[in-house]
Amino acid sequence: MQMALETPGLLSLAAGFTDNATLPVTVVGDALRGMTQSGPDREFLQYGTNAGRPGLRTILAARLLAQDGRCDSTGNGDEVRRWADRFFVTNGSQQALYLAIQTLCEPGDIVLVDRPSYFVFLELLGGLGVEAKSLPVDESGRLDLAGLRVLLGALRAEGKRERVKAVYFVSWFANPSGRTLDAAEKRGLAETLRAEDCVVPVIEDAAYREIGYDVGAAEAQSGILGDPVWDGFPRLYTSTLTKPFATGLKVGYGACDHDGWRAAMLHVKGHHDFGTGNFAQALLERALRDGAYDAQLAVLRRAYREKRDALHVALEAGGLRSRGWSWRVPEGGLYLWLEGPTNLDTGGDSDFCRACLREGVLYVPGALCHGDHPPKNTVRLSFGVLSVERLAEAGVRFCRAAASV
Ligand SMILES: Cc1ncc(COP(=O)(O)O)c(C=O)c1O
Repeated sequence: MQMALETPGLLSLAAGFTDNATLPVTVVGDALRGMTQSGPDREFLQYGTNAGRPGLRTILAARLLAQDGRCDSTGNGDEVRRWADRFFVTNGSQQALYLAIQTLCEPGDIVLVDRPSYFVFLELLGGLGVEAKSLPVDESGRLDLAGLRVLLGALRAEGKRERVKAVYFVSWFANPSGRTLDAAEKRGLAETLRAEDCVVPVIEDAAYREIGYDVGAAEAQSGILGDPVWDGFPRLYTSTLTKPFATGLKVGYGACDHDGWRAAMLHVKGHHDFGTGNFAQALLERALRDGAYDAQLAVLRRAYREKRDALHVALEAGGLRSRGWSWRVPEGGLYLWLEGPTNLDTGGDSDFCRACLREGVLYVPGALCHGDHPPKNTVRLSFGVLSVERLAEAGVRFCRAAASV
């Protein structure tokens, strides 16, 4: 990072930030005017409640039920009201993830995580003294359920099975892999865990669910709350309004169907902050209600598709594949996940990393994104921040660095 900061003109493909040019400045300005001119009620500048605004939770519940194919999105009906009570609004979905682990785990416990996984979540586990164990995957990155049975058997043999306190995975257009878990994989995971007597809390992170480039991609399959195969597992579904709208508002949420776990998370949230910023919530509630949020999503989906293409095309044109690199083209999200030649080391202290810094391009070493046994030759590239032109240039630089080592 030191070298990075000292390198003028560096193009960063590392940070998971979003596109600056499309941030919804006009929408926020309009919403603000609407809120401040709507009469004497100033509640949006007052403390809110620990669980978050009831109106926002109702909209989020209706939205999720519709995405899961469980009812329409009008926000009426008993089912929506029932679910709204199970939602809690958090300071980004990051806080929901933290609350989840803080309330479930003691130091020395184990959480099963996807492979690769969201590296800030892995850091969070490490910070709480919790061990991450990767869910086994096959060559193509799909869950390897036979491997999972072996893993659980081995943990049982070591007397550690009871220390497995949760399972965590990013379902849609994942950070960092760009993959979406398909319905069969998720079902297989639930069935395998159940068959192995491992019905532990499940955390589904849907941070990128709404950033599929094709409209309707989010609805293509249900989340864990809507799929009966997960019945009996304590379930927490987390998602966010940051990436699909404005990261600076830092509003996310959790929806949990287990009363005791949810109460424990809310109890701790009361200690953290006794409520997420009410002002940002009110603004988002308004944007969701009047359609501005969905209009913004449409803009973002187009922008990110174009950015994905710019980076992908630059890497292809730079001959990266012919040098033994491979990657899948994601259908949503903000990341390309690259696998380099088998013997390449992409770590922060590697020749390859130094070559990239010399060329003026920065990436996230893939080793950081693994709960255990990290491979040395993977890389996460984020195309969220840079413009299309700069992405093309960053791709050229990355290829030059790859050619030089
Ligand atoms: C997979 C995943 N989950 C959760 C988060 C947390 O995001 P936020 O706190 O902005 O909701 C991120 C942010 O990068 C992420 O990539």
